[in-house]
Amino acid sequence: MAIERTLSIIKPDATRRNLTGKIAAKFEEAGLRIVASKRIQLTLAQAQQFYAVHSARPFFGELTEFMASGPVVVQVLEGEGAVLKNREVMGATNPKDAAPGTVRAEFAESVGENSVHGSDAPETAAEEIAFFFSGLELVG
Ligand code: CMP
Repeated sequence: MAIERTLSIIKPDATRRNLTGKIAAKFEEAGLRIVASKRIQLTLAQAQQFYAVHSARPFFGELTEFMASGPVVVQVLEGEGAVLKNREVMGATNPKDAAPGTVRAEFAESVGENSVHGSDAPETAAEEIAFFFSGLELVG
């Protein structure tokens, strides 16, 4: 499988509970390398822009207000099949459906406050990485 990069966001519910290190360790234990990382706080407008694909969904307001409600840690993860591997490490969107040992099974509070976001495909990953990082910030 090819070496890929994917975007990860550790969400405000997780940074609030001081879980950044525990979540990052799960990525690294799965063989993903953190090649860029920064802690930022999104404005509502930035959260709306990032999640524009969901703008027609009933939960869009709740999602974007939550994502702007506290610090997030945005990271680029690199490794073989990184997009899929990260999705496996995260577990299902709804923590009730997440497999044991996944980030969402262990840490997520609800489908909305589900601790992590990960890109869903290599094309999306490239767009999402470019949203947060310049090429100079990616150090493999
Ligand atoms: P994420 O991977 O960040 O992509 C879109 C997010 O929308 C998703 O994770 C969930 O946190 C959120 N989401 C999905 N369904 C719902 C829902 N029914 N209510 C609130 N948030 C949701």
